[in-house]
Amino acid sequence: MTDVVLVVDFGAQYAQLIARRVREARVYSEIVPTTITADAVRAKGARGIILSGGPSSVYAEGAPGIDPEIFSLGIPVLGICYGAQLLAQALGGTVEATGRGGYGRAAMTLHGGSPLTVDFPQVSDVWMSHGDSITALPSSVAVLASTEDAPVAFFGDEEARAYGVQFHPEVAHSDHGQDLIERFLHDVCELPGTWTHASIIETQVEAVRAQVGSKKVLCALSGGVDSAVAAALVHKAIGEQLTCVFVDTGLMRRGEGEQIEATFTKHFQVDLIHVKAADRYFAALAGVTDPERKRKIIGELFIRIFEEVARDLGAGLGEEGPKFLVQGTLYPDVIESGSGHAANIKSHHNVGGLPDDLDFSLVEPLRLLFKDEVRAVGEELGLPSDLVWRQPFPGPGLGVRIIGEVTRERAEILANADHVVLDEIRKAGLYRELWQSFAILPAVRTVGVMGDGRTYAYPIVIRAVTSDDAMTADWARLPYELLERIASRLINEVDGVNRVALDITSKPPGTIEWE
Ligand code: XMP
Repeated sequence: MTDVVLVVDFGAQYAQLIARRVREARVYSEIVPTTITADAVRAKGARGIILSGGPSSVYAEGAPGIDPEIFSLGIPVLGICYGAQLLAQALGGTVEATGRGGYGRAAMTLHGGSPLTVDFPQVSDVWMSHGDSITALPSSVAVLASTEDAPVAFFGDEEARAYGVQFHPEVAHSDHGQDLIERFLHDVCELPGTWTHASIIETQVEAVRAQVGSKKVLCALSGGVDSAVAAALVHKAIGEQLTCVFVDTGLMRRGEGEQIEATFTKHFQVDLIHVKAADRYFAALAGVTDPERKRKIIGELFIRIFEEVARDLGAGLGEEGPKFLVQGTLYPDVIESGSGHAANIKSHHNVGGLPDDLDFSLVEPLRLLFKDEVRAVGEELGLPSDLVWRQPFPGPGLGVRIIGEVTRERAEILANADHVVLDEIRKAGLYRELWQSFAILPAVRTVGVMGDGRTYAYPIVIRAVTSDDAMTADWARLPYELLERIASRLINEVDGVNRVALDITSKPPGTIEWE
């Protein structure tokens, strides 16, 4: 069994960050809800427990607690912020609203030594965010450090191997925060840090083999990172038993189909069915301008084509036909939140939104991984880095960036414009920094003048945003020289374009895509 450290999620946004910091220390972590029982903790073979921060007051009615028996299991515990207050209470201490909360940077002074403080200088900067304070602790617990507003900023019970910090070691603004987490994992939990990308691959390869046996498996490649990494991983596990399906909708980025084909057939020698369906898509989309209808048509046609492929394969193979379907589901989609409710998977973010009645069992080799880990695994598996570091691309492809009717001609204009934008963004070294950068084709034409002639053609809108998770986004301040180069190339190189505009809307109120 993989050694695991459990991060109990008390409902703040920090649990995922803590889990990632633990993994950066090469120890496998899982996020669990506050309702987890001591039995479940034992069953998971937990080697350490971290209690996250949270928005509540520990003394408030209905404040989330934790099965008290967990503290008697003899497993090391690290409480952070709310988690520290809960731990202090469990150890027999007191938590109160003293009116001296702390928000932001604070200078912390050490008073005592412990395995967790070895990397800290006498005074260091830590990042605080709390309204309540720990005001008393039993004599078995040592106060290890304090700040002006938090007399107990750091405490430890060496005997119980239980520690609490009022500050947030998981955020970058806390000096030595990662050192503290690593000391807890390596020295207190005695976990040396063996969870590497190579070991993730090994574990998943075994799991996939155990799950599918000698059965055939299908995987829909979308051109995105997640499905590509999932496919490469499953291929490593079961080789020829895997068949990949790539549906070219005519709404992909330029060269995308070729890249997928080259990567998966030449490099990985995967059995790939490349369905060239652009004609069907343009026929289905003719005359349709409503954004939701367009999305629906694109999604449904994808399902139809996928079903046809699956049926054809099944017909040829009979009982031997594919029974499993690979999905690139990631960890943030499966984490149970602090309240114990499973996070909703945004339906339009599923691969093609495949329906349940397809009668496949799912193979989800990435369901325990965060996005950055998926990229690292992809690189380890030998996928090309421009595929692994690809910016997110919507399932319906360029279809949501062609405003108004989607035709072959307009899709071609946009694919060419998109290519210019991305080419210049890459040359400027900004591709990885930006969450997304792309071109939009509006449904208007404007007058221009080129050479001696009057033109009447489309504008291209440049959209480039920074973001952490696509929930909010800011428009990227691209250098003027870069914008000028993009604009000049768009007008000179892309037929049908005579004007360039820049979208300077953040999200909210705008969305990232235009449809
Ligand atoms: P919005 O436009 O809602 O986009 O700000 C947020 C993120 O989701 C992507 N997106 C989609 N992805 N199918 C997808 O698979 C879709 O229909 C879709 N619409 C938006 C968008 O690119 C951004 O990363």
